[in-house]
Amino acid sequence: MAEQAERKIPQHVAIIMDGNGRWAKKRGLPRTMGHAQGAKVVEQILEDADHMGIKYLTVYAFSTENWSRPDSEVKALMNLLRTYMKTSLAKCAKNNVRIRVIGDRTKLDDDLQKAIANLEENTKSNTGIGFQIAINYGARDEMRRAVTRLCEKAKEGTLDPRDITEETISDSLDTAGIPDPDLLIRTCGEERLSNFLMWQLSYSELYFTDCAWPDFTKQELEKAVDAYNHRERRYGGLIQ
Ligand code: FPP
Repeated sequence: MAEQAERKIPQHVAIIMDGNGRWAKKRGLPRTMGHAQGAKVVEQILEDADHMGIKYLTVYAFSTENWSRPDSEVKALMNLLRTYMKTSLAKCAKNNVRIRVIGDRTKLDDDLQKAIANLEENTKSNTGIGFQIAINYGARDEMRRAVTRLCEKAKEGTLDPRDITEETISDSLDTAGIPDPDLLIRTCGEERLSNFLMWQLSYSELYFTDCAWPDFTKQELEKAVDAYNHRERRYGGLIQ
């Protein structure tokens, strides 16, 4: 019990939600049903994370590489995101959730871009959990866009390249102002970052589970937080 009382809750949890397709295949369902179930789980886990005291949750919903999937699957994923953006305002207001979409949204359909902008604008003053959804996101692309912005500032004379610090770079990323994740969770057995938040995850604890995303529950999240509690974060320093 003492251990429970002292349990540290990570401030920011990032999740690579993997295994929707395998979950569906195992049940003889189309892959898109796995994504639909995955979208329901996202909403539940957001509430659970909030109740546990997690302050920021970031999920990888669609990567820059996911465009190479069959058109029908891309369309189904975009429609799930569209539905979420268009129907979540009341829930976000009730639960005090602040939404931010990370990634290059300029490649998304106009109506989806508008729905994202609307949800971000209408939730920006909420003071509860920050919910970041990565859409058309790739860490290398995010860094490329940040470098372009910094070069433009240097060119126009508002930034001296010798003044660029790690903070300048962090502040130029899509996650500007959001603390780096303390814990990354990846579901369904794979153990890699897949181009997700590569700058921000430099010192994060990594947790991998065999559980497929559509089966992920509050209990699974608790297990990840427990594992995090058994890690010693040293940031390159010595054991205290
Ligand atoms: C990876 O599983 C999952 C994705 C590429 C999409 C994740 C998206 C959602 C869960 C919907 C998001 C919705 C909201 C509201 C944020 P996979 O398809 O690669 O699974 P597999 O490896 O088993 O094939």
